[in-house]
Amino acid sequence: MKSAARGCTEAACGFRIAFWGKVSVYQRVKRLSDVPKNRDGWANLCVVSDIPAGGGCYVLHGGKALAVFLDEPGQARVVDDTCPHAGASLSGGRVEEGCVICPWHGWAFDLGHGRCPDNPAIGVATYPARVEGGRVWAKVD
Ligand code: FES
Repeated sequence: MKSAARGCTEAACGFRIAFWGKVSVYQRVKRLSDVPKNRDGWANLCVVSDIPAGGGCYVLHGGKALAVFLDEPGQARVVDDTCPHAGASLSGGRVEEGCVICPWHGWAFDLGHGRCPDNPAIGVATYPARVEGGRVWAKVD
């Protein structure tokens, strides 16, 4: 059947709809890729909405496993993801009073300096982080 207004067949219109759908997906992908992975030494780790309330977000960046959190005032915190006790993923922990609580055995790590409040000799690496444009940026290299 012909469409006089557009001068095309249904099949052609179907093609255009499919084509524009793909363009739309392409534009969305392009828009996401417009955000640089790195800028002035700051790595774009995730969007803020990736981080569950009171929890963490796992990010693999440059072969490094990281856990990204937001503490109470909304400050981004980034620490190594692997718990030094037995290797749990700290991104699966919960945030309490500025610390991440490991999901396996409950060790706490201060999100500011990474040390365990009960035993400051034990800790995880921390990285400078900030929120900008709804994204979490960190200096992890
Ligand atoms: S693995 Fe984290 S406290 Fe045991």
